[in-house]
Amino acid sequence: MIGEVLDPEHAAIAFEPSSKPVPVEERARLLADPGFGRVFTDHMAMIEYEDGRWSDARITARHPFTMDPASPVLHYAQEIFEGMKAYRRPNGGAALFRPEANARRFAKSAIRMAMPPLPEEMFLESVRGLVRADRDWIPDSKEGSLYLRPFMIANGSFLGMRPSTEFIYAVIASSVGSYFKSGSPVISLWVTRDYVRAAPGGTGEAKCGGNYAGSLIAQAEAVREGCDQVVFLDAVERRWVEELGGMNIFFVFDDGSLRTPPLDGTILHGVTRDSLIRLARDMGLEVREELYSIDQWRADAQSGRLTEAFACGTAAVVTPIGRVKGRDGEFSIGGESSGPVTQRLRTALVDIQRGTAPDPYGWTEPID
Ligand code: COI
Repeated sequence: MIGEVLDPEHAAIAFEPSSKPVPVEERARLLADPGFGRVFTDHMAMIEYEDGRWSDARITARHPFTMDPASPVLHYAQEIFEGMKAYRRPNGGAALFRPEANARRFAKSAIRMAMPPLPEEMFLESVRGLVRADRDWIPDSKEGSLYLRPFMIANGSFLGMRPSTEFIYAVIASSVGSYFKSGSPVISLWVTRDYVRAAPGGTGEAKCGGNYAGSLIAQAEAVREGCDQVVFLDAVERRWVEELGGMNIFFVFDDGSLRTPPLDGTILHGVTRDSLIRLARDMGLEVREELYSIDQWRADAQSGRLTEAFACGTAAVVTPIGRVKGRDGEFSIGGESSGPVTQRLRTALVDIQRGTAPDPYGWTEPID
């Protein structure tokens, strides 16, 4: 089987199947309640970069890396990643959602982090190949999907401060249920005042591990305050709402319009964010990509002008926000339940992703 090509049309990636796949009964047990990011599949994709070229593209058994302790990713965090999902279709098949958008963003993140951009077709082939190899790991459940995590790390052996010349690109896959623990369909946010996520000119819009590492202390603060997620304000005025620890944010007003922070260089260009803007506009809703201050947010929630707010992302999908807490007290939004606009957008998105509604945008890519 070694060297078998997964997609005869593109003939780009070799397949070396795992000699020890997880037994079927064990897989079924794991898929019954996978949680998020705990259950991993049998295979992974890998492509290596050296001497200025990408080579050895393969789908292989999932395995640990061996690396030199002076590998630059371990010291200077030259690393980027992506998050995307494959969904089970009503006909039993699988589909990806806007994989080209992830491929594009991955290449942009690479450039920002002084890494060689992976050709987008290689990114797509690696993801498609892994979904084909591990399609049985896609849960059938309503909330379930196969979360794909492409990433790239700097490899080598040196401690000088310079971009590496050796890289490992890999994709792993995890069978997931919902990101937030079930039982709490509405989340609460903690507004951190001590920490910022990104500053102008920094790496905020790159999907690099460092952004997430830097947010962990604030996320831990949120959890200590009894909240599900942290929300960051801008670094300069400490006034404008930017994004959450790992997801974008939208606000819904009593005239039916929506607002989301603009992509000003410090915010992740969320694929879900972009899809929701399109869906909302096509529903006839006005969407403004504009700054929104924490003080205005509180005032609008209290006056009833703000009726809903929600978090969105590949992992979070669309998750309503019910309560916001900060050092100046707390306020609730709507009835602390999922509002009609949030619900409508969530349903429209999820139905396209799962193939239970037509996809007029060409966003889904069936994997056969
Ligand atoms: C995603 O939504 O895919 C992310 O990368 C967020 C991460 C916190 C799980």
